[in-house]
Amino acid sequence: MSEKIFGYDEAYSLITPEDSIKLYKKWALTYDKDFALNSNYLSPKKISSFFNKYSRNTDTPILDVGAGTGLVGECLYKSGNKKIIGIDISPEMLGQAKLKGCYSNLMEADITKQIPLKSNSIGAVVSAGTFTHGHVGPDAFDELLRITKPGGLFVLSINSKVFIKNNFQEKFLTIKNDISDLIFIEFKAHGKTEDEKLGEIKIFASIFRKNF
Ligand SMILES: C[S@@+](CC[C@H](N)C(=O)[O-])C[C@H]1O[C@@H](n2cnc3c(N)ncnc32)[C@H](O)[C@@H]1O
Repeated sequence: MSEKIFGYDEAYSLITPEDSIKLYKKWALTYDKDFALNSNYLSPKKISSFFNKYSRNTDTPILDVGAGTGLVGECLYKSGNKKIIGIDISPEMLGQAKLKGCYSNLMEADITKQIPLKSNSIGAVVSAGTFTHGHVGPDAFDELLRITKPGGLFVLSINSKVFIKNNFQEKFLTIKNDISDLIFIEFKAHGKTEDEKLGEIKIFASIFRKNF
């Protein structure tokens, strides 16, 4: 019997963190090849290159939120960033990330709850593919701001379709006194692919710093 191929239909219909745990448990082994490679998934590379463009050498350690199988960590590590912590709710996805050998620490945690990291301890927060349909909403920003050092950099992918619908825009207004001016850069989540629907997925890379 052939293995089930997972994709956006399953990922976008998640509702609770428990749904994420169940889906990514089944998807972890095939995610890199059947999804990321076959669909020319670009978000990890894009987010890493924006990090490299906007970061200073004080933006360390880097926290990769919803690290999954470690595609963002891999790009960051290859481009010279060595202190990277990955956090994810799925132990199976983290197991795959560990094999890549680019994270100094991997943490299993639900980022919609209290994050088990000290206040003002993280130099930068990066994320790809996690602020999207059925995954994590803007309420997680409060905890992410708490654990980030004053001046720390954020480089987050936010799916354009949830930006207004799931209140990311409203959240940015609520926290405007806690963060620097925002830079938004729109990009496509996937490069050339035969699947037209994938070609339509747009991301807002949202780049800002926590205020001093
Ligand atoms: C589409 S994958 C993205 C993985 C990786 N960043 C990438 O771009 O390939 C989304 C990841 O978010 C994680 N996730 C979903 N809800 C979460 C939560 N509440 N807390 C932490 N991680 C979560 C999932 O387990 C999954 O690994």
